[in-house]
Amino acid sequence: MSLLSVQGVRKAFGANVVLDDLSLEVEPGECVVLIGASGSGKSTLLRCVNLLEVVDDGVIELEGQDITDPRVDADATRARMGIVFQAYNLFPHLSVLDNITLAPVRVHRLPRVEAKSRAMAMLERVGLQDRAAARPDELSGGQQQRVAIARALVNEPTLMLLDEVTSALDPELVGEVLDLLTALRSDGMTMIVSTHEMGFARQVADAVCFLDGGRIVERGTAAEVLGNPRQQRTRTFLSRITTGLPGTVQDR
Ligand SMILES: Nc1ncnc2c1ncn2[C@@H]1O[C@H](COP(=O)(O)OP(=O)(O)OP(=O)(O)O)[C@@H](O)[C@H]1O
Ligand SMILES: [Mg+2]
Repeated sequence: MSLLSVQGVRKAFGANVVLDDLSLEVEPGECVVLIGASGSGKSTLLRCVNLLEVVDDGVIELEGQDITDPRVDADATRARMGIVFQAYNLFPHLSVLDNITLAPVRVHRLPRVEAKSRAMAMLERVGLQDRAAARPDELSGGQQQRVAIARALVNEPTLMLLDEVTSALDPELVGEVLDLLTALRSDGMTMIVSTHEMGFARQVADAVCFLDGGRIVERGTAAEVLGNPRQQRTRTFLSRITTGLPGTVQDR
């Protein structure tokens, strides 16, 4: 059984159909990388999976359970996933440790001692155990993003959703975050990652999915999709990236 099964999902904003009968299977331990032009729906797909958007049609199953069923407890479902965005969204007035323990204590009613020990374990996981007392603005962008990843890991999610987590970082800080994601993948974490970092896709992806026109146009290994794409639309997208031309949907 797939860990995540997205079946025929449609999502429109007004007349703009962003996801059009889109299907995606993710196996346990798999790292699936989403690529595609700006506006192709990568973030919308991740937000639909995380129930931050309501799908218009189709079904999303997590571990065999239909999570798009309106009777499902959305908060409990979201707690089974960790999501990290481009902007780290840390609370500036809270310490690193308190940023991580906030949701476990307030939302999930975990005893503070237990939350703290879990948070420290996660900080160790991301290599920041010595910065627990720091405020976010005392950390580099890469360190802040690693804290955001630690925060997403603290509930021991079955699925991690990572949306352009290196896009806001200075180039010299991208590597430390990509290294962390590579380590998570080696640990067997199931992940869906949207990225413009083709090098990262090559390094960690079990599968690369190219999104265009609201669908996954092509799925394969990184070597297949990035190295030897079957579809003309994939080739056009990749050539735009390598030539540095803007890759927006509107430009086509
Ligand atoms: N809340 C919203 N309301 C209206 N339109 C939206 C909303 N969210 C996304 N869209 C539209 O959906 C389309 C897909 O956006 P999305 O953010 O999913 O693309 P993306 O592939 O993540 O792009 P990028 O690479 O720039 O992050 C865009 O046309 C966008 O304007
Ligand atoms: Mg996006």
